[in-house]
Amino acid sequence: MPAKTVVITGTSSGFGHLAVRRFADAGWNIVATVRKKADLDVHSGLDNVKTLLLDVDDEQADLAFADLALSQFGNVDALINNAGYFQGGPLEASTMDQVHRQFQTNVFGLIALNKAFIPLFRKQRSGVIVNVSSISADGGYPYTSVYQASKAAVASLTEGLHAELAEFGVIVKALHPGSHETKIFSKVDRAEDVPADYDAGWAAFASLNLVRSDPAGTAEVMFRMVTDGDRKKVHYYSGPDGEAIPRVKQLLGQDWYFEELSARNRGQASPLWTAVMPTPVAAPAE
Ligand SMILES: NC(=O)c1ccc[n+]([C@@H]2O[C@H](COP(=O)([O-])OP(=O)(O)OC[C@H]3O[C@@H](n4cnc5c(N)ncnc54)[C@H](OP(=O)(O)O)[C@@H]3O)[C@@H](O)[C@H]2O)c1
Repeated sequence: MPAKTVVITGTSSGFGHLAVRRFADAGWNIVATVRKKADLDVHSGLDNVKTLLLDVDDEQADLAFADLALSQFGNVDALINNAGYFQGGPLEASTMDQVHRQFQTNVFGLIALNKAFIPLFRKQRSGVIVNVSSISADGGYPYTSVYQASKAAVASLTEGLHAELAEFGVIVKALHPGSHETKIFSKVDRAEDVPADYDAGWAAFASLNLVRSDPAGTAEVMFRMVTDGDRKKVHYYSGPDGEAIPRVKQLLGQDWYFEELSARNRGQASPLWTAVMPTPVAAPAE
């Protein structure tokens, strides 16, 4: 039997870069995409990895990408829609251009790639699609509203596709990573001309989120999502702050969970929240 093949977008750094290594270690073929020509050699030295250029904002390229990916190894078994970035800051100071670009990359590009691979997976009656959402889609984080709206759209799209494609043997899942130490935080598309009213609150919120987990754990969860054979589970979480969410929500219920999270995000975490919600564990220094 030929080795299985996974397509992973956004592999120049972070989760995508680590996921390429995780699948390569397990003997998979990988079609890895990068956005910039300068990153085309980012996986050099790894066998069975074909690195291709893809800016997911280019919907025509996305829609044609399944055929290109299939031609690399002759089969495709899974797609991980990982590429994304973070537009941050108060909504009133974020331009509509920033909002559109955030949705173009995180939502519309991802939808186009789902559209590209669904016919292939439907016809072969198998295939796993992992769409990368975020824990921010599960609650209210300030200065994050546009990003979390884009990730909530990803989560909701995934639930719909999970229901729509199950009869064809195609499994669609959403990954909600907690806060992890990747380059995403050094590439934030920040709101500009922010009214001074926000300065203190934004700085206080930022100070709550300085410890971030090792992203290798998330690459491991990506591998599990593709290989565990679970056809019922839609939402997966990674990182201690992510993995706790389903059980804390079950414990508190939706409204109480939201109140406790909001208090935490104002720097007023209750003893209950502190007891039940683990914080990220710092990634080892490189
Ligand atoms: N780190 C976290 O705490 C966290 C938490 C929840 C969810 N996430 C999500 O996890 C995913 C991976 O992020 P990461 O944390 O690993 O950050 P990262 O290290 O910045 O990796 C993001 C990857 O996406 C690529 N990308 C961005 N825009 C693109 C576009 N238009 N076309 C193609 N590729 C594009 C980046 O390429 P360039 O190098 O060219 O920019 C990079 O390869 C993202 O969807 C992010 O929203 C991250």
